[in-house]
Amino acid sequence: MRTQIPDTVSFDRENNRLLLIDQTRLPNETRILALRTIEEMEEAIRSLRVRGAPAIGVAAAIGLAVLAGEMGGVDDALLREYALRLKKTRPTAVNLAWAIDRMLSVGHTKEMLAETALAIWREDIETCRRIGGHGSALLRDGDSILTHCNAGRLAAVRYGTALAPVYVAAEQGKHVHVFAGETRPLLQGARLTAYELAEAGIPVTLLCDNMAAGLMQSGRVSAVFIGADRVAANGDTANKTGSLGLSVLARAFGLPFYVCAPASTFDRSCPTGAQIPIERRGAEELTTQWYQNRMAPSGAAVYNPAFDVVPAENITAFITEDGVSPPRKSAI
Ligand code: MRU
Repeated sequence: MRTQIPDTVSFDRENNRLLLIDQTRLPNETRILALRTIEEMEEAIRSLRVRGAPAIGVAAAIGLAVLAGEMGGVDDALLREYALRLKKTRPTAVNLAWAIDRMLSVGHTKEMLAETALAIWREDIETCRRIGGHGSALLRDGDSILTHCNAGRLAAVRYGTALAPVYVAAEQGKHVHVFAGETRPLLQGARLTAYELAEAGIPVTLLCDNMAAGLMQSGRVSAVFIGADRVAANGDTANKTGSLGLSVLARAFGLPFYVCAPASTFDRSCPTGAQIPIERRGAEELTTQWYQNRMAPSGAAVYNPAFDVVPAENITAFITEDGVSPPRKSAI
């Protein structure tokens, strides 16, 4: 992949620091944060300086390794307390808990924790590349896909999930164009997806979320590709708020709707989408965040779920590191 963007998350082992691109500053400034304390890590995940399901899992894993590195000898009780604090930062993306549990399941020496964090980091790159390989086989030269939020390299270490097929298709010489929904309220589509694709030389066209129906009706979309924060055992899939609407539209217009996600996003302990915890975020994201003047009257009641759930029946197929498969009918 051709891009100047550094890895979203990495481990500066020499100086024992968690390195992150501060995504709240994109696309205006590429600032790398170097974190060492639990407070900095909690704040970075909560305020979406690092975001996207795989990326927050990798960040938490490296974060725990860094926190252990700061201790004299590894204090098991303190490590568990830090793990719990990091787990609580965001509830919907299961990759966060998955990565933390994996870190806690290894022997608690600094070396073991550092090696496991690096393994999670490396595997993320390999897994996303494989998702890209499977997904690119579904793309033809000249296709235009629609995506939502950011499930690209900025949501993982490199490649991403929903955009990995586009990056791999480009490596294979196919010309694939991406429509990026801006993704209110935090504009991950506009600020991050449009940015990272343009940086990589992939043609991208931005639209407001409420333009998706008209765009599909115009016949210019070949398929919808999204990422996922948690896939329940029956295939119901939580992803950025707005994904449900797009899935209904794709069905109405007869378009394939693909969910790209690594195995770590599948939560077999969660029977259906109804049990997936949906994060509620602050009112200011709708009322004041983007303009100096208020965007809504003071005291307005605000509905701000960060995610919604796409029912399995609206999903054409999951694209994982193991291949492309439709939701299992037996589990639905
Ligand atoms: O709130 P965010 O920006 O963390 O939401 C991210 C998404 O919804 C992504 O689509 C999802 O995490 C998959 S990322 C590969």
